[in-house]
Amino acid sequence: MTLQNQKLLIIGGSSGMGLALARRALHEGADVTIVGRNEERLARAAADLGAPATLQTIAADMTDEARVAALFARLGTLDHIACTAADIAGAYRLLPELELPAVMRVVESKFIAPLLIAKYGAPVLSSGGSLTFTSGIAAYRPAARGTVVAAINAALEGLVRALAVELAPLRVNAVSPGWVDTSIWQFVAGDRKAEVLGGMAERLPVGRVGRPEDIADAIAFLIGNGFTTGEVLHVEGGHRLA
Ligand SMILES: NC(=O)c1ccc[n+]([C@@H]2O[C@H](COP(=O)([O-])OP(=O)(O)OC[C@H]3O[C@@H](n4cnc5c(N)ncnc54)[C@H](OP(=O)(O)O)[C@@H]3O)[C@@H](O)[C@H]2O)c1
Repeated sequence: MTLQNQKLLIIGGSSGMGLALARRALHEGADVTIVGRNEERLARAAADLGAPATLQTIAADMTDEARVAALFARLGTLDHIACTAADIAGAYRLLPELELPAVMRVVESKFIAPLLIAKYGAPVLSSGGSLTFTSGIAAYRPAARGTVVAAINAALEGLVRALAVELAPLRVNAVSPGWVDTSIWQFVAGDRKAEVLGGMAERLPVGRVGRPEDIADAIAFLIGNGFTTGEVLHVEGGHRLA
């Protein structure tokens, strides 16, 4: 299946994996809405995507229930929803330095937002529709400083399995990326980004870290495969083995 003529909502579409998915979907002929909180970031993404008539951008914080309800009321019927949104950088700390507001931003962006997206998004999905969320390798290979992210990715995967049952016959899946070169790494590794990602590339069986397009490809599969639900698709270059 291609995404031609499909109405696709991408939450987190102004950056990284979501932006790569938007590019791919537009190329395949989908009607795409990208959502993020920051208007300027959305405008830059739209320009980067060539601002076609089949693209719209909407600024919304998906952790805000009223805002989520209003967004779905405005959008009407959709075919598929993908969410790559995360606000996690502030929580990469060892426990003594960990501050609760940063923890709550992780929980809200990676668990509460998906829950709200399912609550308000499922009723507007067409038959054959799907929801795809984004967990991550930290759930399987946790590292010091990444405790909160590891835990929330695991929680999200539990949510996905439960939603696949409750929302059936809509399909609900997650992609679990390994280390992917996106702007998140500027916040996590700062000046050491190239060194940190290079070290991981050497360690991985595939010899490189991920590209946003690798994850967009996996999400496109999950959207298109009508026999897959409640699944976590690992796209991580063999990280769990290394
Ligand atoms: N990159 C990696 O190595 C890696 C590894 C494992 C898992 N992951 C997971 O993969 C997903 C995508 O990561 P990425 O690297 O593509 O991230 P990214 O480049 O930082 O993009 C995150 C997107 O989410 C949006 N966003 C954040 N909070 C939001 C909110 N409350 N409401 C609406 N939009 C929000 C951001 O825009 P605004 O800031 O403007 O809102 C941005 O568009 C995340 O769930 C991340 O945890 C990433």
